[in-house]
Amino acid sequence: MSSLHFSILVAMARNRVIGKDNKLPWHLPPDLKHFKALTMGRPIIMGRKTYESIGRPLPGRTNVIITRQNNYRISGAVVVNSIDAALKVCKNSDDADADGEGFIIGGAELYRQTLELCQRIYITELQQDFAGDTFFPEFNVDEWLEIAREKHCSDDKDHLEYHFVVLEHKARHLT
Ligand SMILES: NC(=O)c1ccc[n+]([C@@H]2O[C@H](COP(=O)([O-])OP(=O)(O)OC[C@H]3O[C@@H](n4cnc5c(N)ncnc54)[C@H](OP(=O)(O)O)[C@@H]3O)[C@@H](O)[C@H]2O)c1
Repeated sequence: MSSLHFSILVAMARNRVIGKDNKLPWHLPPDLKHFKALTMGRPIIMGRKTYESIGRPLPGRTNVIITRQNNYRISGAVVVNSIDAALKVCKNSDDADADGEGFIIGGAELYRQTLELCQRIYITELQQDFAGDTFFPEFNVDEWLEIAREKHCSDDKDHLEYHFVVLEHKARHLT
C-alpha cells in the first residue's frame, strides 16, 4: 500500500457557497482546467451527490464514490460505504504511484468529514458572494499556512475575480 496523502479541492464563493440545487452556482472554465490539471492521473474521492452532479466518472483518474446505499453501482467508478474504505481504495490504486497525492473533491458533507485528515486544501476563492444552498465548512484558519496565491480575473463580461490558493496544515507535514 502506498503512503498517499490527501488534499481537499474546492471552489468557494466569498460567502462560503459551493453549490446550488446540486450544481455549481457559477460558470468558470479556467477553474475546471485547474481542477483537471491537479487531479489527472490521481485518485479522487467524492460524495454520491457530487458524483450525480458531475454525472459521469471523470476519465484518467480512479473515481471513488461514497454512499450509504448498498446497491449503488457505477461503471467506471469504485463505490464504497465509508471514508476509510475510500482512502484504502485510493492507496491501493494504480494512480497512487503518481506523486503520492489523492483528492477529496466534495461536496460539503465529505469536506466536513475529511478536513481533519487532509494535509492540503486547494481553494479557488471567488471574490464575490453567490446564492446557494451548500457551504464549505468553517475551519480553524490558524492551523493552516497559505503557501500559494495566484490572482486571476475571468476574461468574459462578468470579470469575475478568483484566486487559486493553497493551504498547508501546519502540523500534518507532508512525508
Ligand atoms: N464548489 C465546489 O468545489 C464543489 C465541489 C463538489 C461539490 N459541490 C457542490 O456541493 C453540493 C453537493 O454536496 P453535498 O454536501 O450536498 O453532498 P456530497 O458530500 O457530495 O454527498 C453526500 C452523500 O455522500 C454520501 N456520504 C457522505 N458521507 C458518507 C459516509 N461517511 N459514509 C457513506 N456515505 C457517505 C451519502 O450518500 P447517500 O445519500 O447515497 O447515502 C450522502 O448523501 C452540490 O451542489 C455540488 O455542486 C461543489
